[in-house]
Amino acid sequence: MMQETGMRAPEFDPVAEGLERGDENTLRPLSIEEFIGQEKARENLRIFVTAAKQRADAMDHVLLYGPPGLGKTTLAQIIARELGVGFRATSGPVIAKSGDLAAILTNLQPHDVLFIDEIHRLNPAVEEILYPAMEDGKLDLVIGEGPAARSVQIELPPFTLVGATTRSGLLTNPLRDRFGIPVRLEFYNAQELTRIVLRLANKLDMAIDEEGALEIANRSRGTPRIAGRLTRRVRDFAAVSEDALVTAEIADNALSRLEVDADGLDSMDRLYLNCIAQNYGGGPVGVDTIAAALSEERDVIEDVIEPYLLQKGFIQRTPRGRVLSQAAYGYMGLNPPRQAAFAQPSLLDEE
Ligand SMILES: Nc1ncnc2c1ncn2[C@@H]1O[C@H](COP(=O)(O)OP(=O)(O)OP(=O)(O)O)[C@@H](O)[C@H]1O
Ligand SMILES: [Mg+2]
Repeated sequence: MMQETGMRAPEFDPVAEGLERGDENTLRPLSIEEFIGQEKARENLRIFVTAAKQRADAMDHVLLYGPPGLGKTTLAQIIARELGVGFRATSGPVIAKSGDLAAILTNLQPHDVLFIDEIHRLNPAVEEILYPAMEDGKLDLVIGEGPAARSVQIELPPFTLVGATTRSGLLTNPLRDRFGIPVRLEFYNAQELTRIVLRLANKLDMAIDEEGALEIANRSRGTPRIAGRLTRRVRDFAAVSEDALVTAEIADNALSRLEVDADGLDSMDRLYLNCIAQNYGGGPVGVDTIAAALSEERDVIEDVIEPYLLQKGFIQRTPRGRVLSQAAYGYMGLNPPRQAAFAQPSLLDEE
């Protein structure tokens, strides 16, 4: 996963931490009501859940997509809970053979939710047997080999597949088309993240005021998982310095020590921007080149670092690579190069 490059603040790295699963299970919101933000997604899910319950039928298949840490796994669990059905979880890379998927599918109870995380990483042979399962509730299996091989068809209990991916672009069309309910998760705004921090602080018995929560929210890259991590770190910091109430000042102080700045950018983001500015004249530069220069995996660059910088308008993706925007130069306090290659975003979206 993450390589130690020696360039990064060793004690805290929200990006690396964002990839760990840790103890976040215990404090997840448990109902659509309790889930903060994502109004559009919540509204839709509420309607589809209610309709499925009225029909006493399995809900249609749901695809949850968006950057890491925005609540895909949480929502999948909430869907099962709201439907009042069982929840089975697995992930794309774990299902190695079609037989593994067949075993999971045939063990489902009627109307269960089957959650497949990282569904873009399903092996194609496995994906193929998922198609008829999703569409007709049938499993086509070949048993045996050579002349003795025969195919059998198994009727499956009706079920809801909830797929999650950070990369809907990598899904094959036949798979994407079989999800009746695609749900795109967006970055959270500061107000929503403030509520998330306040809720978590409450659960953690941590005294914090609104301004303190807002300070954490502003530095959370629009991401609840990071808001959760930062909240815990601020709590530790406040405990050690014996501050009874976390105010904006205390939160700011703690977070500055963690090298998360007021824009929510951390040391890795700054390295990324500096790398393009200093080494590649502001771009365009290919993502593989950046990954190599930062000793980071391409997936981490594309899934974790770039979505937030794109959302901030600090970079643009062009067919020839990444380009820094004027805003990024402003953020870094640098003058943009003279013949800056600022891209025309409308023409040039890579994915
Ligand atoms: N809307 C929300 N309100 C409160 N907490 C949230 C919300 N969304 C996510 N969280 C919290 O943020 C953390 C990350 O959420 P989750 O694991 O569901 O993200 P994810 O989208 O599945 O991430 P990944 O793509 O890395 O699997 C969890 O601790 C969860 O409790
Ligand atoms: Mg998840």
